[in-house]
Amino acid sequence: MTKKIGFIVGSLRKDSYNKKIAETFETLLPDGFEAEFLEIGNLPLYNEDLDVEGKVPEEWTTFREAAKTIDGVFFFTPEYNRSIPASIKNALDVGSRPYGASIWTQKPGLVVSGSMGPIAGFGANHHLRQSLVFLDVPVLQQPEAYIGTFQNLVGEDGKFVEPTVEFFQTIVDAYVVFFNKLTA
Ligand code: FNR
Repeated sequence: MTKKIGFIVGSLRKDSYNKKIAETFETLLPDGFEAEFLEIGNLPLYNEDLDVEGKVPEEWTTFREAAKTIDGVFFFTPEYNRSIPASIKNALDVGSRPYGASIWTQKPGLVVSGSMGPIAGFGANHHLRQSLVFLDVPVLQQPEAYIGTFQNLVGEDGKFVEPTVEFFQTIVDAYVVFFNKLTA
């Protein structure tokens, strides 16, 4: 059966480079894997008072139901002030509750950070990994996916240039091996 990989993009802006990275990764998935982009920009901020019958925001329910069906998860995160954007932290929190019903547990993960700067979102990448340890998401370790100065890696057509796409492919290939080992 086809394995569904949830794609979560932390930048909400229309022309996001992280979104472009995610769209490129989608094209690199092998047969037997498919991407499902999970909407996170519309999720109300997590509030425990709302997480009770009759009060749960519809957007949380839609997100949780969609995320329940994924077999693995890819995060594409920009770095905001040396950490992850609030959108991703909120999605992690919404997906982690109600207590005992987390949608993240044991789903093989991949963290890709992308930035305009040369440090390539290192801070965001590792802050995200910190939460994923607690959420019991095993994350691919190598190759690490830091995409720095990404504005220089696209051609005039707006697409990532070939050496960069080849690097993306090595990440996807390593993830598939990792995924298959964990789920065998
Ligand atoms: C940034 N940016 C940024 N870049 C970086 O390398 N380290 C950082 O800590 C920050 N901090 C930061 C905070 C906020 C609030 C914004 C809006 C931006 C710049 C960031 O790399 C740039 O805007 C990217 O283009 C964001 O990724 P998308 O939107 O193109 O996917």
